[in-house]
Amino acid sequence: MLAIIGGTGLTQLANLKITHRQVIRTPYGEPSGPMTFGIINGHEVMFIARHGYGHNIPPHEVNYRANIWALFEQKAKRVIAVTSVGGIRADLTPGALVTPDQIIDYTSGRNHTFFDGKDSMVTHIDFTHPYSEEIRQQILRAATLADEVCVDGGVHAVMQGPRLETAAEVNRLERDGADMVGMTGMPEAALAREMGLPFATIAVVVNHAAGRGNSHNGIPFETISSVINPAMARVRNILELVVEQDGD
Ligand code: HPA
Repeated sequence: MLAIIGGTGLTQLANLKITHRQVIRTPYGEPSGPMTFGIINGHEVMFIARHGYGHNIPPHEVNYRANIWALFEQKAKRVIAVTSVGGIRADLTPGALVTPDQIIDYTSGRNHTFFDGKDSMVTHIDFTHPYSEEIRQQILRAATLADEVCVDGGVHAVMQGPRLETAAEVNRLERDGADMVGMTGMPEAALAREMGLPFATIAVVVNHAAGRGNSHNGIPFETISSVINPAMARVRNILELVVEQDGD
């Protein structure tokens, strides 16, 4: 079954016919909320809102381990995480959708592994290519079928937050090779890999990163909601067609 992790602006899926909700207990504590199960286009899907259904859990407080554990326990076969980012690369302007192919992790102090050495052998996962290429291709095919543009690839920098970056930090991220910056991509992607869950992301560019474009003198928060709502509608169009692709 496809699992979808919804981010800011995607706390529910309008096109999901809900069948039931389930509270899931995990050895790592509470997930962000009950898992929502339903049907999209005749296919079963499970959905969780990363920031809670009332959008009250900040990026650094999300229980990423509990969320990924819950998806694993409910037998998710593949995971698509939707996340908002600021655009650094010139073509990643507000409203752009991207499926990144690389990550740089700048987060700290988050519970970032299931292999913390207490009950398990020391385990190192391979993370050379952090996203499932198969799911990335499914997203790109679904976007083409939905007549939506989704940019293929890019480096996703993940910051600790919850504050936004300084202009100098964004310059440094760019020098590091980052194309977009968000706060929730990690440790989610690595935890999914630890659990053996194929995982990819649809990143929604909701603003120019700090110091760029119309964020030159500050992030214009007032414009974000007008970008995010239509962009998430386009993400839903893509998700509707991703469920049709192989993998369930
Ligand atoms: N920086 C970090 N996280 C974000 C941004 C940003 O500019 N926009 C949306 N999430």
